[in-house]
Amino acid sequence: MDVVVTTPSGVGSIVADLVTALSPSTLGVATGVSPQPVYAELVRRSSITPDTRLFLLDDYVGLPVGDDHRYRATIERQLAGPLGIPARNLLGPNVDDVDLDDAAHEYEQVIRSIGGVDLQICGLGRNGHLGFNEPGSSFDSTTRVVELSAATRADNARYFSGVDSVPRRAISQGLATILLASCIVLVVVGESKASALAACLDGRPTTRFPASILQHHPRVVVVADRAALSMSTHLPHQGITA
Ligand code: F6R
Repeated sequence: MDVVVTTPSGVGSIVADLVTALSPSTLGVATGVSPQPVYAELVRRSSITPDTRLFLLDDYVGLPVGDDHRYRATIERQLAGPLGIPARNLLGPNVDDVDLDDAAHEYEQVIRSIGGVDLQICGLGRNGHLGFNEPGSSFDSTTRVVELSAATRADNARYFSGVDSVPRRAISQGLATILLASCIVLVVVGESKASALAACLDGRPTTRFPASILQHHPRVVVVADRAALSMSTHLPHQGITA
């Protein structure tokens, strides 16, 4: 894994440079705080064309249609809308399907039919989760309905009126699904992620820290700030080689 160290405010331009260089026709998108500066920078530069297809990494189950917290709505607001990417080019699991297992399976097939996205942008959970693959998720996992851990629901309470409003379930791409991507960028900022990042970079891959599976992928770039890297022995590069 290549590790690029930057300041929290430098994340946006570094990852946007990478996106511009790779010019993906399919882009996997996480939500949350970490990728927001990236999306803001991509919008500022208009560096993604409207025919780019965006693939949600995951989305909540159980939120009403029209709820702003849905990840589809978030990506529409932060990226697709401002870049003029039409709704048909924003793909994700159908979290309103009466049969959620079918919906997850269908989304998995869509991703497999293109052989994985060209570039996947991910964040890292404080518990080491990748997408909503919580600790204990199999490295062979595919897109499925998942239960969010208490830790994740507590972390995500900041986006809701309180922890009780955070959905209990989501549909998430599996770890094996995420690894189909040709290139993966992991954005990690802040001291609260330091121990999870150290486990993922320095430890042996283990399902206790799902993002440690990234060690099995040939083309991963970790873009992190010093605080996030403070517990890691991995030496950062200053440049990008992907
Ligand atoms: C979001 C997702 C999660 C987040 C992770 C970090 O689509 O899949 O894995 O990337 O929880 O979230 P932030 O960036 O808000 O700390």
